[in-house]
Amino acid sequence: MNLPNIKDARKRTDKKVDYKTVWEIKDDTLKNQKFFLKTYGCQMNVHDSEQMRAILENLGMQETDTLEDAKVIVMNTCAIRENAHDKVFGYLGRIKHLKKNHPDIIVALGGCMSQEEGVAKEILQNHPYINIVFGTHNIHELGNLILQANKDKQDIEVTSEEGCVFEGVNYKRDSKITAWVNIMYGCDKFCTYCIVPYTRGKERSRKKEEIIKEVNSLKKSGYKEVTLLGQNVNAYGHDLDEDYDFANLLESVAQTGISRIRFVTSHPWNFTDEMLNVIAKYPNIMPYIHLPLQSGSNKILRLMGRRYTKEEYLKLCQKIKDTIPNVTITTDIIVGFPNETEEDFEDTLDVVEQVKYDGAYTFIYSKREGTPASMMSDETTLEEKENRLQRLNEKINYYSKLSNEKMLNKIEKVLILGVSEKDPLKVYGYTEGMKLVNVLAPRESIGHIIDVKITDAKSFSLDGEEVKKIKQN
Ligand code: 5AD
Ligand code: SF4
Repeated sequence: MNLPNIKDARKRTDKKVDYKTVWEIKDDTLKNQKFFLKTYGCQMNVHDSEQMRAILENLGMQETDTLEDAKVIVMNTCAIRENAHDKVFGYLGRIKHLKKNHPDIIVALGGCMSQEEGVAKEILQNHPYINIVFGTHNIHELGNLILQANKDKQDIEVTSEEGCVFEGVNYKRDSKITAWVNIMYGCDKFCTYCIVPYTRGKERSRKKEEIIKEVNSLKKSGYKEVTLLGQNVNAYGHDLDEDYDFANLLESVAQTGISRIRFVTSHPWNFTDEMLNVIAKYPNIMPYIHLPLQSGSNKILRLMGRRYTKEEYLKLCQKIKDTIPNVTITTDIIVGFPNETEEDFEDTLDVVEQVKYDGAYTFIYSKREGTPASMMSDETTLEEKENRLQRLNEKINYYSKLSNEKMLNKIEKVLILGVSEKDPLKVYGYTEGMKLVNVLAPRESIGHIIDVKITDAKSFSLDGEEVKKIKQN
């Protein structure tokens, strides 16, 4: 048994990353049985679930969306804020009840929550009906852990090791049009509020050859869009021996000729001019930058350990707008960080007014055990924090609608992904700037990039109709 340890998880040494290849299991003990997979959290988790799904299908199992039908239940959890935690424990209550009548069900808990020191211990003591706890570093072992649990063994395997990079991973992807591609794992930034560097470990870059091979193979299979994934993509390559960074990688990926490339998430601190120039140069790199601000106050940014000032952030946004025509900029903001005063909060509002974001994810600060911010005193009441969040959201929504309204009557290139949820006669897709559009166009357009005239703008989406190309004789 291997339990995570926050001190070990904090360690960063010069030890080089190990590159390993995953293996496939050949065992049909669970063939034709059903599995239920529930995913919480960010894109990284969504993509990890695509790996878990492939592992389960490799055992011959089939997915069900009915919890009660499952022989194996896998929960891929998130630890970023307290409410993510609470949701998981709430759901576990349902599973506990189910298992009373069906003791042969196998329950596996994975993802970021399992990497927290307290959680694995709590599960051992208070949730004995959970058979397996596995972490973000050993997803590849899930198949074996399930087979062992099926032979009546409780298994807690979570490691805090600095980690390695696995290649040869199989994914059962959610989409046949857009795909996630991991370019790096982990984070070394240690922003003081954030649990990710502990749950996901040290920054580890995949080798460029493997990334390009994956993109080429996705392109060959008909994928139109890839999103390069990492907690902090512009740190890509810093741990490799070669002189090759994220700007170089973006350029190589662009040269594969895949139709659309996106990337998340960029840290403002090491966002280079070379990156901007590459984005501006290649039309298949989308003009869309997610650039977390977190706070507009220099005092709070310092307490957060963000390594930039309000002025530097604003300068970067201006440079991005000057270099990339029609760029969309979105952000993440936290309100109510310890010691945030009304004045600090107004600095955040000021940045929102100056940048005029196209959209933002906004959060109330949530204390995460083991992080430096959890030790800071916090006098602000929850009521005050909620009030700040509401004022912030009003401003964000105002600019988001404004930016959508600017698109009225324009012709946009939209990658169509499926039938619209709102209207079965319409399809939906995303513009180059990542705006959601419900489009009047036939279903045959799904999987294609089509020209769309924008006819209506709302706060969070656009309406449009396909512009038919006039055939030239
Ligand atoms: N409390 C609130 N929000 C947080 N985030 C990360 N950690 C916390 C926390 N402890 C937010 C940040 C980050 C996004 C993914 O989640 O804004 O960019
Ligand atoms: Fe967390 Fe900061 Fe790393 Fe983002 S850059 S994952 S906020 S520590």
